Amino acid sequence: MKSQLELIDSSKVPEHVAVIMDGNGRWAKARGLERTRGHVAGVEAVRRVIEAASKAGIGYLTLYAFSTENWNRPKEEVDALLNLIVVALERETPGMIANNVRLGVIGDFARLSPESQASLLRSIESTSACSGVRVNLALSYSSRWELAEAARKMASDAVSGRIEVSDISEDMLSSYLTTAGMPDPDLLIRTGGDERVSNFLLWQIAYSELYFTDKYWPDFDEETFYAAIIDYQSRERRFGKTSEQVAN
Ligand code: IPE
Ligand code: IPE
Ligand code: MG
Repeated sequence: MKSQLELIDSSKVPEHVAVIMDGNGRWAKARGLERTRGHVAGVEAVRRVIEAASKAGIGYLTLYAFSTENWNRPKEEVDALLNLIVVALERETPGMIANNVRLGVIGDFARLSPESQASLLRSIESTSACSGVRVNLALSYSSRWELAEAARKMASDAVSGRIEVSDISEDMLSSYLTTAGMPDPDLLIRTGGDERVSNFLLWQIAYSELYFTDKYWPDFDEETFYAAIIDYQSRERRFGKTSEQVAN
């Protein structure tokens, strides 16, 4: 069967794709397995989405792996999930380097264990020279945490005279976010059937195209990713203008 990759218009690929990877627990439940088994299967889907993004020529891929709110899950699940993420990253790092994938992590690092922080920093550091797709893992991340953090830093810089209050602009605020220097997501994908944004990149997705699929995250494959890109390419992004203006 022909891959939908061939149907993608390479002149119009989204520069930045963000993904809310949801449905691991339900995937496992449907199979009579522990929720954690769903997270294990979800790691394979992460590998597939990175590969698909590389092939499609995506510049930035931001993956929501663990939210601030997810800290409220049962401790056993939190521990298992975070451990799984850190171990998987360590294991996948040589492969990421071989595939020219650059890793970044966004979120409240300080809440992770010192060992996890050290391990993540090693992976980030060893992929720092890679120039292919840039993968941002959102870990212990929420948009409201990020915005409050930005407000604190800006206020502190204003008090110390590093910035002028009158200079605060949308661009400046963006530069205080964890995604500083990155383009806003053009496309946000959510798997698992729910149509909500769950505190993810609220500022950055102001004009993103949204794509929802019922597929549970562990079932996500390259073709699903390409289908989302093709759907994205069929949309007219007007940014408040009229259709006629956009056409000209
Ligand atoms: C997504 O799957 C992974 C995380 C949120 C950490 P879930 O664990 O939320 O799976 P469901 O939504 O309960 O099926
Ligand atoms: C969103 O999934 C967070 C991640 C995918 C990491 P959740 O499963 O936590 O979302 P809600 O709580 O159902 O909205
Ligand atoms: Mg969920």
